Order: sequence, then C-alpha cells, then structure tokens
Amino acid sequence: MRTLGTLADAAAFRSTAHSPVILVPTMGALHAGHAALIDAARARAGRNGTVIVSIFVNPTQFGANEDLAKYPRTFEADLELCAAHGADAVFAPAAEEIYPAGDSTFVEETTLSCGLCGAQRPGHFRGVCTVVAKLFNILRPDAAIFGEKDYQQLAVIRRMTRDLFLGIEIIGHPTVRESDGLAMSSRNRYLSADERKRAAAFPSALSAAARENEPGQIIAMATALITAGTDSPPEYVALVDAETLEPLSALDRPAVLAAAVKIGETRLIDNVRLAPRHAKV
Ligand code: PAJ
Repeated sequence: MRTLGTLADAAAFRSTAHSPVILVPTMGALHAGHAALIDAARARAGRNGTVIVSIFVNPTQFGANEDLAKYPRTFEADLELCAAHGADAVFAPAAEEIYPAGDSTFVEETTLSCGLCGAQRPGHFRGVCTVVAKLFNILRPDAAIFGEKDYQQLAVIRRMTRDLFLGIEIIGHPTVRESDGLAMSSRNRYLSADERKRAAAFPSALSAAARENEPGQIIAMATALITAGTDSPPEYVALVDAETLEPLSALDRPAVLAAAVKIGETRLIDNVRLAPRHAKV
C-alpha cells in the first residue's frame, strides 16, 4: 500500500492506476464503519482496479465552536486498517496542499444542505462539498463510496456530483452499528461510560418510532423516546423525503427519519429508512 502525502504523489499514482478507481473519503480515526466502506470499494474495484482512501481532517467543515482541534487523530492505526482491508493507497495531504495560500473558491449546494444538520451547522456542507470536489479533481475516481449514517451528506454529494457533471458514480453504504445498535462514529470515543450506555437509546428510539404509521406520531414518539432514554432532548427530529429531504406529511414515498442529539459534549446523528405505507383496505 502506498501513502501519498502531496498532490504530486497523488498525480503520479493516479497516472498509472488501473481502472476502476474507487475512492473512500474519510477524516481518519477509522473504525469498522469505515472498514466496511473500504471492503465495499475493494469488492467494487475487483482484483485489478484501485482503491484509494483519503484521510484529511477538513478544517472548512468545522464551525468555530466545533471540535476541529480535538478531532481524534490515529494515523498509524488508520494506515494499518487501510492495508488490512486491501486499500492500494492512502492519500493524506497537509491542509496547505488542499487549501493553499490565496485559495478563495468554495462549492455550495443550496437546497438539500439547508435543513437537518445544515440548519444546526451553518457552512458545514459548504466545507464538505468543497473538500469532496477537490478530492474528486485530484484523484479523478470512477466512483466514490459514502456511508448512509451521514444521510444528508450522501444526498448533498449526489446532488453536487449531478449538478456539476462530475461523472463520478456515488455509492451509498448501509450504516454499520455496534452490537447494541449505536451507529459507529469517530466521535463515540468521546462518550463516558455512562453516556455510552445512554447513547444506545438513540437508535432504538428511532427504530421504534419508525414502526408508527402517521408522520406526526412518528416525530412525537421519536422525540419522547430520545429525550427519556438519553436524558437529552434531540437537536432535531425530522421525517423527510428520501431524495429531496423535504419534510413529509404523509408516508406515500420513500422516507428517512433523521435526528441529532447531544449527549454531554458529544453530538450524535442517526437515521432510519421508511418504505411507503399503503392504506389498508
Ligand atoms: P468521516 O466522518 O470520517 O466519514 C467517512 C465516511 O465514512 C463517510 O462517508 C461516512 O458516512 C462513513 N461512515 C462513518 N461512520 C459510518 C458507519 N457507522 N457506517 C457506515 N458508514 C460510516 O464524513 C466524513 O468523514 C467527511 O465529511 C468527508 C466526507 C470525508 C469530507 O471531509
């Protein structure tokens, strides 16, 4: 496995890489959720194709009061995980390579980015789109894999890729969970033992509420169960169209129940998919 630290290294590697080239963008602190994405990339690339994992803690997607400085960094372990899961290269550039002095261009998706996490984290998806567009241009993958855990991020990146005619296939991967249902996340390591116990109530609240049939009831139940189980009111609970992310008043199309909750200092997000319900006759 090669480690690519500069744009020049990346260009040289890319110029001889065998197709298809599959990219897994990450911010490091890799866990079994990331590993599943790398496995899926390996399967998709086949024996002859190329899997590149990028590891870059992207400063432009963190708000002023967020955890950029203390975001977990476990680079040596990350390299081992990537190698063990069959990556051909890790692209791990310095911030000055991605945002050189005088850099003044951002990429902004203006509709899907506004609600849900976008409403709580102004500028977040602008930072995500900008870095992902840069990674796509540097590495020119045929396809890139993103997790459904960050459902809004996946939808925003699909839209950006379509709108800018980037010609890259965006592949969604199901959320990987701990045995008690908590979605794996680099931020879970911030949770104290007591917070970690309470966190398990978050995914179970969402799946219990998703069994209801009426949108108002689903949201009310999710809110009540999250608040009771985690001891914290959710930042938001929303039932949205799976593609447009617009709030739904009827379960007449594929939907997503998405929520965020802060347990202590740690912000967790999760979502469940809901199939359309047909009226009983
Ligand atoms: P990061 O949080 O490191 O996540 C990298 C990728 O792993 C994302 O596509 C995310 O959805 C996926 N992922 C994380 N936890 C997962 C889980 N439990 N199951 C399945 N997939 C999971 O998301 C980012 O980094 C950044 O915003 C990035 C896209 C790299 C841009 O900076």
